[in-house]
Amino acid sequence: MRHLITLHDLESSEILEIFALVQELKEKQKSGERPQLLQGHTMTQVFEKPSLRTRLSFESAMWELGGGASFFTCKEAGLDGRESIEDVARVIGGYSDVITLRTFSHELIEQFAKNSNASVINALSDLSHPCQALTDLFTMQEIAGDVSQQKLAYVGDGNNVAYSLANCCAKLGVPFVVSSPEGFELSSDFVASLKANIPDAKLELEPDPQKAVAEANVIYTDVWASMGQEAETEKRKKIFADYQVNSKLMTAAGSNCKFMHCLPAKRGLEVTDEVLDSRQSIVFQQAENRKHLAKGLLVWLMQQA
Ligand code: CP
Ligand code: NVA
Repeated sequence: MRHLITLHDLESSEILEIFALVQELKEKQKSGERPQLLQGHTMTQVFEKPSLRTRLSFESAMWELGGGASFFTCKEAGLDGRESIEDVARVIGGYSDVITLRTFSHELIEQFAKNSNASVINALSDLSHPCQALTDLFTMQEIAGDVSQQKLAYVGDGNNVAYSLANCCAKLGVPFVVSSPEGFELSSDFVASLKANIPDAKLELEPDPQKAVAEANVIYTDVWASMGQEAETEKRKKIFADYQVNSKLMTAAGSNCKFMHCLPAKRGLEVTDEVLDSRQSIVFQQAENRKHLAKGLLVWLMQQA
């Protein structure tokens, strides 16, 4: 039984196996084929936060593969204190092959994995968003072929998305630069432990966004206030003002540089319309790839069960 709770759960070679499956299934779908590889399989999704892409990508992936999907809010599932977390996890595990969880607390997802007899997938926690990072690196590979020479510059909050991108880039040998305002960087403990675990990780922190994006192949950003941080929106607007991805920053990287964003975006804050809607922007290819990634990941996880 394998889980995907953070990228630590996957070896580099396994990420590449998943990417190969994703590509194969995407090509098949584009030529009208939908192999029913998960017929009779059940996925249960339990979400504490809103979602468009993650929920729908997993749901449509499961349907296209011949399986079925159910959705609960954490409250509906009884995680508001109606039952213990362990009991809910055991019950859902008894009905499901896969459980996807979107939560504030990362530990809640770990508790589910310990207590349920199903593959648990992190569909975003406050700490990490591994399915997003896998999709992003797959998308870069789709465009560039070999990603090991592709410099990815992340400009903005050192949040769950940045954390997972850092892990995924380190596993795949991708140079990754993170540019955040003081106090919003990736944590120094995380950076130290990543470098200890993967000594040749090409991870750099560069507070100056103009310097960070020099020679970047891709500039990536995410919202300045993540779900749960809405009360800090106004404060963060001031702190992050110099970290907006706009035409000037894109120009600093060069005309072939792509723009990525996990979405949803706050247009006019972390990114301008001009950049989001430009020919350099690949955000909707990225968004569609969430479904193809979900298909490859689900099939791969079920092959390991
Ligand atoms: N990128 C992403 O996870 O989007 P949702 O929050 O809509 O699922
Ligand atoms: N960092 C964002 C990602 C949303 C997909 C959040 O956690 O809200």
